[in-house]
Amino acid sequence: MSIKIHTLAGYIHEYEKSVLQPEQFWSRIAETFHWRQLWQEVVRWNFDEPSVEWFVGGKLNITENILERHLYTLGDRPAIIWEPNDPAETALTITYRELYHRVNEFANAMKAQGIGKGDRVIIYMPMTPEAAIAMLACARIGAIHSVVFAGFSATALADRINDCQARLVLTADENYRGAKVIPVKAVVDEALTKCTSVEKVIVLQRTGGPVNMQDNRDIWWHDAIAGQPDTCEAEEMDAEDMLFILYTSGSTGKPKGVVHTCGGYMVYTQFSFENVFQYRQGDVYWCTADVGWITGHSYIVYGPLLAGATTLMFEGVPTWPDAGRFWDIVDKHRVNQFYTAPTAIRALQAFGRQPLEGKDLSSLKVLGTVGEPINEEAWHWYHDHVGKGRCPIVDTWWQTETGGIMISPIAGITPTKPAYATLPLPGIQPVILDNDGHELKGNSVEGNLCIKFPWPSMLRTTYGDHERCRQTYFSQFPGYYFTGDGVKRDEDGYYRILGRVDDVINVSGHRMGTAEVENAINEHPRVVESAVVGYPHEIKGQGIYAYVIADTTGRTEENLEEEIRATVANIIGPIAKPDKIQIVPGLPKTRSGKIMRRILRKIAEGITDDFGDISTLLDPEVVEKIIAGKK
Ligand code: WTA
Repeated sequence: MSIKIHTLAGYIHEYEKSVLQPEQFWSRIAETFHWRQLWQEVVRWNFDEPSVEWFVGGKLNITENILERHLYTLGDRPAIIWEPNDPAETALTITYRELYHRVNEFANAMKAQGIGKGDRVIIYMPMTPEAAIAMLACARIGAIHSVVFAGFSATALADRINDCQARLVLTADENYRGAKVIPVKAVVDEALTKCTSVEKVIVLQRTGGPVNMQDNRDIWWHDAIAGQPDTCEAEEMDAEDMLFILYTSGSTGKPKGVVHTCGGYMVYTQFSFENVFQYRQGDVYWCTADVGWITGHSYIVYGPLLAGATTLMFEGVPTWPDAGRFWDIVDKHRVNQFYTAPTAIRALQAFGRQPLEGKDLSSLKVLGTVGEPINEEAWHWYHDHVGKGRCPIVDTWWQTETGGIMISPIAGITPTKPAYATLPLPGIQPVILDNDGHELKGNSVEGNLCIKFPWPSMLRTTYGDHERCRQTYFSQFPGYYFTGDGVKRDEDGYYRILGRVDDVINVSGHRMGTAEVENAINEHPRVVESAVVGYPHEIKGQGIYAYVIADTTGRTEENLEEEIRATVANIIGPIAKPDKIQIVPGLPKTRSGKIMRRILRKIAEGITDDFGDISTLLDPEVVEKIIAGKK
């Protein structure tokens, strides 16, 4: 265990220490891990190049901190509980001892294919335990994994493979996703027609469906591990050696490969996991993310497993076979901590309370959200109907680039406030800058969210293009890490994320967060979800265009639009009233639930084509429907 905060006074005390004496603070935590060699310097940094190193000179292997460290104390405890897509299929439990052997066996299998330290390995797999085993096996031998969400298209996959020049791809025959079967191996085959770096593909047999296996390139997972020993000496890694690359979209088209390194990422993910969720030995923790996103990396795999926790992995989707699936799983596995996205909460909220009926959710102790601002209505629904008013909600703000949770309540210890991420974790020094780069001190201020001191799990570079890293995160406000988010610090000092500042709308000189307007619109009881963008407006500079999913039964759209305007005027002020409201059947979302605003901005501007790559959308057809419905 690293350090655990148990009281509000403890939080305040640790926070102060972390700011006044960051080196002592972090070395005390890092000392609880297993290092082959201790560091000579805790942190060495400047935000100009930028150059950030943590635990300089330290040697370790992160998997020794997951596997060997827990083998004798927790060997028979479940490390992973796997719930398959189909509830009729048997769930699986993998103990820490079994995980140790399976990771080592697969590590040997990759070595037998000539993969070693520094090689890049793409993981394009379903949410099965093998995905986690693959990540850990890479870390075991010092290979750098890059997990690509298995819903990405062949083109998106090929771009990522080419950017990092991967030598090996790990995939499956097909993936189950609700009622659908997705031919992922066929996607890999197509992607590889555009890639030359890949030498081998290892294919997990998940569905048994037909696949084309290419001679001398493709190997079945079960053949690759056959006869491999189940122990494997861990590669000694420098604290600053790369652990993984994870591609993420920015405001420009091409995704960038965010780079995380071994030592700092290890220390921070365990520390933040244990504290935010207040995990206790024996608890069952479930994060519903996909391993293809940073949340899956830090809070399904690394953080929980470093902490010796039991982490639940779910292969399926929240609405199949029906909208009660999440609650069935909580009931079945007696889940104690449940971590999901606001978009999932809102989607389930739309089904009403019936799917919750008859489900025993009494095991739940902590609820979490991540990925986007949560509107107050969804927060209350989650709190009242899922948590039955008993469970604190940790609204966790962070990013792919931050590696771990940055601003969040500590469950049951620090206060919560609907729609607020509240307070920074110890070691995190957020500041709010105005557009000229001046720090706004004190409370009741709003501006650009920046971080002024490094933390162990921050990104080190963007793969193959350090200048892009500098430009994107360190140039707009010299000397700070710029998050790209707008934030408000309220009268009590609590932080509320207002959404990306690239989405801020300036109406008649008044800046408004799109998320803020959406929150207000969503307060209307008939509104399920909304997305707001700016569009050029002759008089105001920018106008507000709102795309709204709403229940219009029993009234005209015009009536509803007027009510929504009144609601917004009521909650924010007349200035925030949408100029245009379009009732839409759905919103263009990526499979991770993010709304693709650039598409909505274009439609709002009157553009009806040239949307770029929309293959990553959950439902690309929704774009046509919105265009057709535009007045
Ligand atoms: C947004 C996900 C409000 C934010 C871990 C951030 C949030 C971006 C929250 C990063 C939250 C994440 N409240 N907004 N609790 N968490 N965001 O890289 O805009 O997929 O910059 O990382 O999501 O998204 P990413």
